[in-house]
Amino acid sequence: MYLGIDLGTSGVKVLLVDPEQHIIASETAPLTVSNPASGWSEQDPADWIAATKAAIAVIRQNHAKQLSAVRCIGLSGQMHGATLLDANDTVLRPCILWNDTRSHAQAAALDGQEMFQRVTGNIVFPGFTAPKINWVFDNEPEIFKRLSKVLLPKDYLRLWLTGEYISEMSDASGTSWLNVEKRCWSDDLLAASNLSTDAMPTLVEGSQKAGKLRADLAIELGLSSEVTVAGGAGDNAASAIATGTVDAGSAFVSLGTSGVVFAANDAYLPNPESAVHTFCHALPDRWHQMGVILSATAALNWYAAICNASPRDLTDELGGVLQAPTGALFLPYLAGERTPHNDADIRASWHGLGGEMSRKEMTQSVLEGVAFALRDNLEALKIAGTNVSEVTALGGGSNSRYWLCAIATALNVPVHIPDDGEMGAAFGAVRLAMLADGLGSEQELCKPSPIVATIEPDKEKLGAFEETYQRFRGLYQTGR
Ligand code: XUL
Repeated sequence: MYLGIDLGTSGVKVLLVDPEQHIIASETAPLTVSNPASGWSEQDPADWIAATKAAIAVIRQNHAKQLSAVRCIGLSGQMHGATLLDANDTVLRPCILWNDTRSHAQAAALDGQEMFQRVTGNIVFPGFTAPKINWVFDNEPEIFKRLSKVLLPKDYLRLWLTGEYISEMSDASGTSWLNVEKRCWSDDLLAASNLSTDAMPTLVEGSQKAGKLRADLAIELGLSSEVTVAGGAGDNAASAIATGTVDAGSAFVSLGTSGVVFAANDAYLPNPESAVHTFCHALPDRWHQMGVILSATAALNWYAAICNASPRDLTDELGGVLQAPTGALFLPYLAGERTPHNDADIRASWHGLGGEMSRKEMTQSVLEGVAFALRDNLEALKIAGTNVSEVTALGGGSNSRYWLCAIATALNVPVHIPDDGEMGAAFGAVRLAMLADGLGSEQELCKPSPIVATIEPDKEKLGAFEETYQRFRGLYQTGR
């Protein structure tokens, strides 16, 4: 048996999977995000551990025997978060998350140093880890003085599980301290954050072994004393492993809290000018590019909360047939934007609302606005040299068929619906655990997901979507 743990932004998902890759049990424990100021986004790492324990405990109730047969645990998680530890592994402050943009000035200053884009292949975005540490240096010097280790969220879970400081290439790519081509920490980049490799975890590939479960914890969780932990991956690379998005030409679109258009590459193809991310994949000698928008389901959930309705209620109101855009246009920049704008200050806006419109038209515009922002990402990938001609849809938002129809038509590419698209990153983590355990080869274990349906672009509405997309592009500047 194998266990996958995905530390998401809205919850921790734990999957128990047999060696034939059948899901035996799946459990999610919720997490909340605190926003103490505009642009700030934090979580208490103690909540990650509590949620992981809670999800495993529920699985244990019905599957104690299978749980005790687990050989290896794979980890995946929300990327970029800065978990700050002192020399005793005490957490020094709440983790500053991937969608926190408070450090935009520090990010711009680092990005202005020529070596960052050259060595990392990426813009230093405010959401990345390095500028957050520079923000702490500038604003919380007492905390910085006590700083001994910086860990990414899932690597903090690994520390709890194994007692070891280990990370892997895909997640480390989002720190701005990794030489993404050579797959090693850069002393020069670390020095720009007043750090050295002493503060960094050891690096492995995602499919390698990376620690052994602590004996006391094994007993507490109902696991055996022989469990190893695999390197794992950042959530996007893990989702790619889950769907077999490994070879060049394969791509997915993910509708989680963030939205992602992800393309696998078999070489390192940096293009920071396009604001596309170029990161190591979770397998050796592979890389990927992705465009990231900060608010995908975050936008729908926000609107649903205002309407005092569930996201499901809202999308159900739209019916099953894609409508042409109504003239109401939503720019989904609730938390600023990464690709293609790299703009921490931009905020969301509605345009073209008419007195005849109701909550239904506004829901439609929220879904379309996210679809157009994803189209911006597809265009950015094109500029970066990668043509995406079909995508697999993943993440909680992909439960809405209406949303997928809007995305297929806004992007003008077929959207495949995989079996179990929601299993995503946790399932990828399981596959990495299987690789680390030597259960089979990459080809055997990382097959593309079976597709249950394909949504083609709606030919009759392509023109209307294209026109509205051009309007969307023009409106970006007015969101300030
Ligand atoms: C990727 C990113 C997000 C988080 C969400 O760069 O910031 O997709 O990984 O969990």
